Amino acid sequence: IIEDVQIRKILDSRGNPTVEVDVITWNGFGRAAAPSGASTGSREVVSFPEGGVDAILSEAEDIIYSELIGMDAEDIVTIDEILREVDGTENLSAIGGNTTVAVSMAVAKAAASSYNLPLYKYLGGNFVNELPFPLGNMMNGGAHAGINAPDIQEFLVVPVGANNVVEAVFANSSVHKRLKELIQTKDSNFTGGKGDEGGWVPNITNDAALEIQAQACEEVGDELGIEIRPSLDMASSELWDADEGKYVYAQDGIKRDTGDQIEFVKDIIETYNMFYVEDPFDESDFDGFAQLTAKVGDKCLICGDDLFVTNKEILAKGIEMNAANAIIIKPNQIGSLSETYATVKLAKENNVVPVVSHRSGETTDATIAHLAVGLGSPMIKTGAIGGERIAKLNELIRIEEELPNAHMASF
Ligand code: PGA
Ligand code: ZN
Repeated sequence: IIEDVQIRKILDSRGNPTVEVDVITWNGFGRAAAPSGASTGSREVVSFPEGGVDAILSEAEDIIYSELIGMDAEDIVTIDEILREVDGTENLSAIGGNTTVAVSMAVAKAAASSYNLPLYKYLGGNFVNELPFPLGNMMNGGAHAGINAPDIQEFLVVPVGANNVVEAVFANSSVHKRLKELIQTKDSNFTGGKGDEGGWVPNITNDAALEIQAQACEEVGDELGIEIRPSLDMASSELWDADEGKYVYAQDGIKRDTGDQIEFVKDIIETYNMFYVEDPFDESDFDGFAQLTAKVGDKCLICGDDLFVTNKEILAKGIEMNAANAIIIKPNQIGSLSETYATVKLAKENNVVPVVSHRSGETTDATIAHLAVGLGSPMIKTGAIGGERIAKLNELIRIEEELPNAHMASF
């Protein structure tokens, strides 16, 4: 039974305010914080209303407090419905999706804690035995970096050959280290600057970045004796110029229409043996996604982030069109844990790989590590380096230690 709810303003990794929520039950406690995006999808719920965290802080705490006190923390679905009713808008723009999602996750953690269970076990049950591969962020461009950086937002790697989480996490950090050296060979002025998600921000072309990304994967993979595959988040909604009908690659001075973009991405996937490519098209271009997935979906995960915004109805449309074979899962895009769960369930039923993910603006909250394990997500996207990123990776290491019979997920 929920006895107290507290909402406070805390810092995120960009130094911006976000919320952290404590839920106290008579025999349990849950705490969760909400992150924020920079390259947000237009169909996401709203993080905070105008005026930000300060605009909702005291009022939301009062309303949520009066609605939730006395409820059973196990009634998560009902509580999530009440939060939507309290907000009263479709896109949660009154009290903010970040507020509702932090309450929702804190409620679930309080429920888990009342059984003395970690969240992953409360959600996934006693037979949880698969651990996710970390999708590590190595270099940043686009909206997560400065103007001389590559246009592609995220150069990622997946240690697909890793035998356990510890090996996987350290493989990613080794690639990250190697890439710093490789960037310095291309750009002698490089001082080690990093972007929002802890990847390096090199002043090099997209092509040069793709080259050294592949080189680092191969060299470190050979050294460690495990396969490491390159991946990308192109965050193409940020590149799309709707007036021109083209993707604008400012760093390279090239513009591509949808047909060019399909060929460009297909060529990258084949040349570099990409394991995963996120948002290769604008968030409205289901058809472009479907064409690319038809061409290369058998050898590469084509993932929708801004395309699906963790929304079950939008995913249903994507499934109907065969638009993608993977989906990014960011609870604060949809505003509650129960809706996040429903989207993951629909994805799994239709062989769409769910990838639980951080945001570019994060806190040290490690809840998504539990969600990835508990919801059975074979990959977790949570960076490689930086306090707010390693909070999740180190939590995964602890979870692995608690599950001696667990093995790495299969795709
Ligand atoms: P965001 O971007 O958190 O800034 O929206 C991350 C991503 O596009 O995956
Ligand atoms: Zn993305």
